[in-house]
Amino acid sequence: MILEGIKCFLRPIEKEDGPIVYTWFNDKEIIDKIIGFRFNFSMEEALDWCIKASRESNKDIKWIIESVEETSKPIGFIGLYNIDFINRNTEIAVIIGDKNFRGRGIGEESLKLVCDFAFKYLGLKLISAQILSDNEPSLHLFKKIGFEEEGVLKSRIFRNSIWHDIVLMKLIMEE
Ligand SMILES: CC(C)(COP(=O)(O)OP(=O)(O)OC[C@H]1O[C@@H](n2cnc3c(N)ncnc32)[C@H](O)[C@@H]1OP(=O)(O)O)[C@@H](O)C(=O)NCCC(=O)NCCS
Repeated sequence: MILEGIKCFLRPIEKEDGPIVYTWFNDKEIIDKIIGFRFNFSMEEALDWCIKASRESNKDIKWIIESVEETSKPIGFIGLYNIDFINRNTEIAVIIGDKNFRGRGIGEESLKLVCDFAFKYLGLKLISAQILSDNEPSLHLFKKIGFEEEGVLKSRIFRNSIWHDIVLMKLIMEE
């Protein structure tokens, strides 16, 4: 499903997004900030990731983010993961891979569009996010749109020779 905002719109991922997804998955600055991805994806793995993401699933839903200023240019992706319709919760993550498009409110708008979709269309009641404790821009962004800190998992990720804490964040649907 396509989600439209003022600054950006979100569309389903296609196999053709493989090459650009490959560049994001091989950008250390990005991968260092994300939990659950590893550096050095091959092109084949990136294509495979896009093919899987393009298939209908009731567990994960992912979108490519495009800016309204420059359509047909993927600038990032956003996804809902581990959707649990019984307990009505899911996880969310976002990447603005094209750094020229950061700082323009697109991360914020994409998150709002997908959270709105999860609450109103999917009928979920809680969205969670796991963010590395030193990822200040992301913590700031999630708090700005209403996520609150639930707790900290100490020394959970070993990366670049040091242990990192994970901040658990949650957003609950307003009744
Ligand atoms: C985090 C990320 C998604 C932000 O996207 P973005 O489109 O640049 O963010 P926005 O322009 O919507 O900014 C939203 C808010 O975050 C703040 N922000 C964004 N980047 C920031 C930075 N580098 N430093 C400090 N604050 C920052 C903005 O100032 C804004 O807050 P404000 O209105 O109070 O000033 C983007 O930097 C990114 O993709 N980072 C790498 C991947 C990542 O960390 N993903 C999140 C983990 S799930």
